[in-house]
Amino acid sequence: MEEKITYVEWKSEYSVGLPFIDEQHQALIELTNKLYEACIESSDAAQEYFKEVIRKTLEYVNFHFSAEEKLLTSVKYPEYPAHKRQHESFVKKIEEEIQKFQKGQAVAYVFVNYLKEWILNHIAVHDKAYSQYVLQRKKEEEKRA
Ligand SMILES: [Fe+2]
Repeated sequence: MEEKITYVEWKSEYSVGLPFIDEQHQALIELTNKLYEACIESSDAAQEYFKEVIRKTLEYVNFHFSAEEKLLTSVKYPEYPAHKRQHESFVKKIEEEIQKFQKGQAVAYVFVNYLKEWILNHIAVHDKAYSQYVLQRKKEEEKRA
């Protein structure tokens, strides 16, 4: 696992215009790449590593979602309930996958692929939608100041 494999690559077009959120999204992509690295290796060590990283991913996802939710509540984002629901169902899915891994019932690659698709779609569509709103509110505040 010395060699770094890039499964998902961060692109500037993924930027939502809010540096701290972009950084968190990059960290999520980094974790996805680590999971990918682990799942293409079949050694016991790689499997252990996979389980460790998946738990870290869950922790990080929770941290990131609460940061986003705090931000969205502070600007009274109208789509907040729907956005929060998406977060909740994603967290639930990761928790279910972790349980499946513990029982030996899950396919690592399928999960990593799901993670990748979800993150990219969520950033590209939903996070961009709220960031437009947040940036707009910021501009208005600056004008008023
Ligand atoms: Fe989000």
